[in-house]
Amino acid sequence: MSRTIQAPRGTFDVLGEQALARERLEADARRILERAGYSRIETPTFEATELFARGVGESTDVVQKEMYTFADDGDQSYTLRPEGTAPVCRAYLEHGMHKLPQPVKLWYLSSFFRRERPQAGRYRQFWQVGAEAIGSDDPAVDAEIVLLVAELLEAVGTKGVRLRIGSLGSPEARVAYREQLQGYLRAHEAELSAEVVSRIDLNPLRAFDADHPGTRRVMERAPRLLDALAPEDAEHFAEVLAFLDAAGLAHEVDTTLVRGLDYYTRTVFEFTSDALGAQSGVGGGGRYDGLMEQIGGPHTPGMGFAAGVERMLMAAGAQPTAPVPLDLYVAYAGASHRAAAFRLAADARRAGHAARLELGGRSLKGQLKQADRSGARYVAILGDEGTSLKDMETGEQRTVEPDTVMHHIRGDL
Ligand code: HAM
Repeated sequence: MSRTIQAPRGTFDVLGEQALARERLEADARRILERAGYSRIETPTFEATELFARGVGESTDVVQKEMYTFADDGDQSYTLRPEGTAPVCRAYLEHGMHKLPQPVKLWYLSSFFRRERPQAGRYRQFWQVGAEAIGSDDPAVDAEIVLLVAELLEAVGTKGVRLRIGSLGSPEARVAYREQLQGYLRAHEAELSAEVVSRIDLNPLRAFDADHPGTRRVMERAPRLLDALAPEDAEHFAEVLAFLDAAGLAHEVDTTLVRGLDYYTRTVFEFTSDALGAQSGVGGGGRYDGLMEQIGGPHTPGMGFAAGVERMLMAAGAQPTAPVPLDLYVAYAGASHRAAAFRLAADARRAGHAARLELGGRSLKGQLKQADRSGARYVAILGDEGTSLKDMETGEQRTVEPDTVMHHIRGDL
């Protein structure tokens, strides 16, 4: 026998209860985001590799190690999207959305691809709910995005949620701060992990992320970017926090919050859940005022978030799901009644009822057992002696003309 084929490592099938839970999550996301003026966008599953190299950033783990890249059309390089912000910005430019009233508010629920080491809560194909508000640098936009994530997590039932928020300031302040931090790291090289030392030039901020004990000790005393912000960026951040306070949303200001993507400026935030293990980030985002220029457009500020569908649901635990109530179960005695039974079930569905027909080749006795289990309100039995209709709520059973079943059940459903 040949070996059976399995789903690729780090991927999964969505079945049964999970499918229902995801449908509910999508309905929650749509309600919350559309109510706030966000409309749905879907972008292609793959994009020019250059979009992510320039948008997400060459120095990030995502671009350096995690992209699924392939060649097509001769020498054109494409990549399965590892995230949604750069594609949405590409679409904004491509469709001239700067002509619309700003900010343009878009949301998505799509799957993304990163070649990461799979573990609980970390997959190679995963789903995100995300939203982007493009064309305004108003701090109220930042606060609105953060509030929408909080609202979504609450609707989904995600437990043990914490919000951390910080500001990365402007690229100029960051350059100055980066040099200051590089100087500090070089002065402490002997105490740092080899990986952090090797990244001092490329990405010194990542040192704040390290698990290495020596590095952590050094980073406790490292200069903080939040203390080096330009006055207008500090003011912007203070206004974001004031809006969150006004809305009563609890948050912790984190001076060392770094995100894995390079496009962020000013506000960055992350929601974590204590109900998750190592992969505790349920959602995050921030402002990306320089991204549009990175991918060839004019200066256009933007702010957004993405939250992982699998992680939100994992941290919500199992939620009871109600099965779709069945109005009519059609059973039949013998093959000669199969066509009429098939037609009755189809007619009932066309009339807007939930109706099911025996498809497993069961005997009439087996069918009636199934009908009982299905929780159907009515069971129709087509046989040589005519058609009988049983009301499962009252137990009443009567013989009816075959063509009148719909007429009999309609009044009650
Ligand atoms: P991100 O932090 O890379 O941000 O991803 C957002 C969320 O996606 C994470 O918090 C996590 O829940 C989920 N996620 C990420 N990678 C995986 C994975 N391998 N397996 C399962 N879940 C995962 C972004 O992607 C930005 N585009 C967010 C954003 C939008 N910033 C501004 N606008």
